[in-house]
Amino acid sequence: MLDARVAELLNVQVNKEFYSAYLYLDISNYYVDQGLDGFANWYKIQAQEERDHAMLFMQYLQNNGCKVTLDAIDKPDKVFDSFGAPLHVGYEHEQYVTSLIHNIYDAANAVKDFRTMQFLDWFVKEQGEEETNAEGLIKKYELFGSDPRALYMLDSELGARVYSAPSLVL
Ligand SMILES: [Fe+2]
Repeated sequence: MLDARVAELLNVQVNKEFYSAYLYLDISNYYVDQGLDGFANWYKIQAQEERDHAMLFMQYLQNNGCKVTLDAIDKPDKVFDSFGAPLHVGYEHEQYVTSLIHNIYDAANAVKDFRTMQFLDWFVKEQGEEETNAEGLIKKYELFGSDPRALYMLDSELGARVYSAPSLVL
């Protein structure tokens, strides 16, 4: 069995990952409404990845004999006033998620729970990639977003993103 606090934090993380999926679906829907289907595609796939993360945390808890409690998922309530605004929301959200993962890692480390630390290693690396991607989108938008033709091309580029299942298998 896992340490009670570690297990609780992992259970909270299931909810946080589902919320991330909700947030990215909300962003995807915003871009659909704006006619930027490529941006919408990028965030829809991001939402799929977040659902995968939630399932991985759930599976890890169950593999360790822990009961999973599914809590209500918060309503995404951000209002976007420009094409660039969701990109900043996404980047800030990823930084927040990184802090959550690090916090669980800290708790596992405190009780010498090496198994959970090893499980979380994948997420530590994943968060590094998520932050780089989110920051990269902001940079590209700042460079090209104000020119309609360049924005069209950027939208096409983001439209080419395809879903791939997580490399972590439990
Ligand atoms: Fe995630």
